[in-house]
Amino acid sequence: MDYKSIMAGLAASALQGADAASLEAMIEVPPNPEMGDLSLPCFKLSKTLRKAPQQIAEELAKAFTAHPAFSRSVAVSGYFNVYFDKRTFAESVLNAVREAGERYGAGTVGAGKTIVIDFSSPNIAKPFHVGHLRSTVIGNALYRIHRFLGYDCVGINHLGDWGTQFGKLITAYKLWGDERQVEEGGIEELMRLYVKFHDEAEAKPELEDEARAWFVKLERGDAESLELWRWFKDISYKEFNRIYDLLGVTFDSDAGESFYNDKMGVVVDELKEKGLLEEDQGAYLVRLDEYNMAPALILKKDGATLYHTRDIAAALYRHKTYGFDKAIYVTDYAQNLHFQQWFKVIDLMGYEWADRLVHVQFGRVNLEGVKFSTRKGNVVLLEELLRQAIDKTRDIIESKNPSLENKDEIAKQVGVGAIIFNDLSNNRIKDISFSWKDVLNFEGESGPYVQYTYARARSVLRKAGLSGAEAGVDASLLENAEAQQVLKELAAFPDKVLQAKEKLEPSVISRHLIDIAQSFNRFYHECPILVDDAALKSARLALVQSTCMVLRVGLGLIGLQAPERI
Ligand code: ARG
Repeated sequence: MDYKSIMAGLAASALQGADAASLEAMIEVPPNPEMGDLSLPCFKLSKTLRKAPQQIAEELAKAFTAHPAFSRSVAVSGYFNVYFDKRTFAESVLNAVREAGERYGAGTVGAGKTIVIDFSSPNIAKPFHVGHLRSTVIGNALYRIHRFLGYDCVGINHLGDWGTQFGKLITAYKLWGDERQVEEGGIEELMRLYVKFHDEAEAKPELEDEARAWFVKLERGDAESLELWRWFKDISYKEFNRIYDLLGVTFDSDAGESFYNDKMGVVVDELKEKGLLEEDQGAYLVRLDEYNMAPALILKKDGATLYHTRDIAAALYRHKTYGFDKAIYVTDYAQNLHFQQWFKVIDLMGYEWADRLVHVQFGRVNLEGVKFSTRKGNVVLLEELLRQAIDKTRDIIESKNPSLENKDEIAKQVGVGAIIFNDLSNNRIKDISFSWKDVLNFEGESGPYVQYTYARARSVLRKAGLSGAEAGVDASLLENAEAQQVLKELAAFPDKVLQAKEKLEPSVISRHLIDIAQSFNRFYHECPILVDDAALKSARLALVQSTCMVLRVGLGLIGLQAPERI
């Protein structure tokens, strides 16, 4: 039942000269439930209707004829407040969740629209760091949220597999590398070679020239350099895939930067034709002074392309291939300028779709509180972070529920879920500091807390021997405050999904899951469920069932599993 639109409809017919749609947009949820369930502030109406706000509110209260949705209404200081009929409300929420099931909160706003999501995008031969984790987790959640709302989604892992650093790596490998050591050491060994290159190049700058030459060869398709590059890529990809498997993340495309190697020439020509390219000491760039930005570098003086060049080529390609309604890029806020620059270049090229490019930025994660066994620093160790989360969860389960079956799998679902949830629990732009105490707190605002609430609710349903959905329960038995609060949170869920999409902010959902879990736990403590009174038991079980459904749907949207037992 759409309470806002019912209220707006009733109010519109009571007030001549106001239309339902604009009234609906004014309706608010009062900060405190004692003030009512919905409220229409009458201040803006006062001008058009030429009456004092309180007078309008009073007229509304008088004219509000008995409607089954509302139990009463009042006019207070210019606000018109209505109270839901609790039984009808309970019935409508339970029905809505039961009827929609796994699709509760799903929608069709995205029907016929395509959204391209560029996320994760780690760099070959470099560590998958915690920034890539955030990008992966946020991008994956945005992907799922959009798909749920009917969008066609294209998830792209824009791998950093091209650029002058590969010239350095090839140089270093040829000078100091060993095949077996690279096979065994993986990214760590490639990193060692890369770091060595930088150390040595300080004293021997000619190494830089050598590296540049190798990259130019690579860009021109030289066989030896291509073969080495492919090998470095395979090695890195194997490691990245272990992380994606743990996180349960997949992509529709992993066309990385190298994919655009043969697509940049035309872009450079187009920039030239459009008079945007300027030569500067042999290099080429697009000036952005007018927009208070440093120039976007397009070609180095040896002809090598840059990060900008590849992003521009990729955007043109994606627009042609997918005809997107929106293309989003999920990275750390440190890349803000990079994206602003090349978005501007697309705009200057005359593409009207430049305003459909969106940079979804996020804050830093401070891993200082985390100890790593193997190496120092907090860059290389993402996989280890996930493994530690799983191990620590395994220990908690071992001490709390030693007889649990399938402990390893559940520790994985909860441990990985804890890391994901922690990443999504605040506005993405905020920096977060990482503490195991919070991440794995089964009683705090954490992933394990939501998952545990779900498992506890499922166990009640199992005890009740319930298989199908409880229908036709007496909803008047859910009029108490605790039950009503849970119902309100469940009713708000579809709106939260839309908000999360609108703001490109998965934390809207994770925070709402905390609200649902908290209100459910209050209900669970205050209202015994498996009671003798059959009607009361059925009504409460129906609420437990709806809660389970919404928690599971919500967890799924942000990329967490919902284990049946913990
Ligand atoms: N590989 C880049 C990095 O690790 C992120 C790429 C983001 N996507 C993009 N189209 N630029 O910083």
